[in-house]
Amino acid sequence: MPMRKTMNRSNSGFARNTALAILAATAASSFCWQAHAEATRVTFPKLEDLVHYTTVRRGNVTEHISTTKQAIDAIQKGQPVPNGTHFVLADYRDEKIYRYFVMEKGPGWGADFEERRRTGDWQFQWYWPDRKINVQENTARCMSCHSSQKGADYLFTARRIPEFRGKPVE
Ligand code: HEC
Repeated sequence: MPMRKTMNRSNSGFARNTALAILAATAASSFCWQAHAEATRVTFPKLEDLVHYTTVRRGNVTEHISTTKQAIDAIQKGQPVPNGTHFVLADYRDEKIYRYFVMEKGPGWGADFEERRRTGDWQFQWYWPDRKINVQENTARCMSCHSSQKGADYLFTARRIPEFRGKPVE
C-alpha cells in the first residue's frame, strides 16, 4: 500500500508537471508570436487615396512611394506631417507587387515603445500582396533603420517632396 501511494503521488506529480510544461510552452509561443508578428497600430490604407510622389529603382526592384495629399502639402509648407498619415512603399519585383511596407503616425503612438526604440509617433508594418501581415517580421528592425532619419521625421524620401509637382520624382 505505501508503495501504491508513492506511485499515485508520483503520477499526479507527473500530470502536474506536464500541465505546467504545456502552460509554459503556450506562454512561450504566444510571447514569440508577439515578438515577431507584432500587431502594431498600423492599418492598411486606402491606396487609391494616396499620392505616388517618388519611385526608387534598384535592379529588378521598383518601389513606388506614396503618402496623403495632406502630408505632401504640409511638407511643402515646411510643417510637420499630421497624425493619421500613411506612407506606403509598394515594392514591385519584375513589375509584380511583392510586398507593401507601411508607416503610420498617430497621436502618442510612440509611447507604445520604450524610448530607445521609439521613432517619434510612427509605427511600421509589412504586408503581403493579399494584405496579410508578415508574421515573421519584427518591426523593431524597421524602426532601428529609420531612426537614422530622425532629422527628417524618420522618413528617407521626404526630402524629395518639396520638388514634387505631380509627376513621381526619380
Ligand atoms: C536597413 C534599413 C531599412 C530597414 C530595415 C527598413 N527600411 Fe524602410 N526605408 C529605407 C530606405 C533607405 C528607404 C528609402 C527608399 C529606398 O531607398 O529604398 C525606406 C523607405 C520606406 C518607406 C517610404 C517612406 C520613407 O521613409 O521614405 C516606408 C513606408 C518604409 N520604408 C517602411 C519600412 C518598414 C515597414 C520596414 C520594416 C518592415 C522598413 N521600412 C525597414 C530603409 C530601411
